[in-house]
Amino acid sequence: MARKIVVTSGKGGAGKTTVCALLGESLSRLNKRVIILDLDFSLNNLDVVTGVEDKVVYDVADVVNGRCRVKQAIIKVDRNLSVMQSGRSWSDFLSGQSIRLLTEGLNGYDFVFLDCPAGVDEGFMRAVSAADEAIVVVNPSPSSLRDADKTVNILAQYKPENVYGIVNKVRGDLVLRGKELSASEVGDILKIPIIGCVPDDDAVLTASSCDVYGKAMRSFGMIAKYLIKGEGKIYDCLGEFKRPFGRLKMALRSRG
Ligand SMILES: Nc1ncnc2c1ncn2[C@@H]1O[C@H](COP(=O)(O)OP(=O)(O)OP(=O)(O)O)[C@@H](O)[C@H]1O
Ligand SMILES: [Mg+2]
Repeated sequence: MARKIVVTSGKGGAGKTTVCALLGESLSRLNKRVIILDLDFSLNNLDVVTGVEDKVVYDVADVVNGRCRVKQAIIKVDRNLSVMQSGRSWSDFLSGQSIRLLTEGLNGYDFVFLDCPAGVDEGFMRAVSAADEAIVVVNPSPSSLRDADKTVNILAQYKPENVYGIVNKVRGDLVLRGKELSASEVGDILKIPIIGCVPDDDAVLTASSCDVYGKAMRSFGMIAKYLIKGEGKIYDCLGEFKRPFGRLKMALRSRG
């Protein structure tokens, strides 16, 4: 049976879709079969982030409404990674229950990720009620933390098996200077296990597919292993600034 994990954040732009795509890609590189469902019906962009926008014919709403078979809406990103897009169409039958039925009918996957819209209203509830576990993506900023904290509290009502945190867009140089919270401080505030710390990385910002390499991808590789084993190491976002020339790098970043 696939693990059904909703990826949420409260605050918009924290990195939910990025986490779905790059964690999905990392799991697929470890031979896990992954499908990501885009459940953001207003500002959907999973197809763009995974580089399959030209391949979308049917979407989640088409499946729920019976306009196509499940298989017709599944788009392969690579051998082990697939996505199902939202947003081309709408269905009055879209509910947590119908999404749950859809996810339960997806055979042959190890992980089903549900890419949640920002906020904690209808779209959030629909996604959360179709999942068994949750990942809360949080940036180390006061506003993101507050929204993540609210999200964690609301999630508790759904009694998910696990609620994990991923701290995204971390600036190691700012953490070292005491201007940004560390991942463990974020975990202490949210009272959830932090399974990953992803650096702020231009390679993610400029990517047009899941074909990303570099420090952020190393971090997602570690998160993938953590998720599979239920334990593991977290990427050290401060490491690059502690090594030789690290101080120079810090000084350069603070200038500009
Ligand atoms: N670790 C990172 N380093 C640099 N840029 C990042 C990182 N993670 C995400 N981004 C960038 O931040 C922006 C928002 O990311 P993303 O779309 O994944 O957020 P989201 O939470 O899904 O947003 P929304 O709430 O609108 O659905 C994107 O431009 C993405 O490339
Ligand atoms: Mg998104």
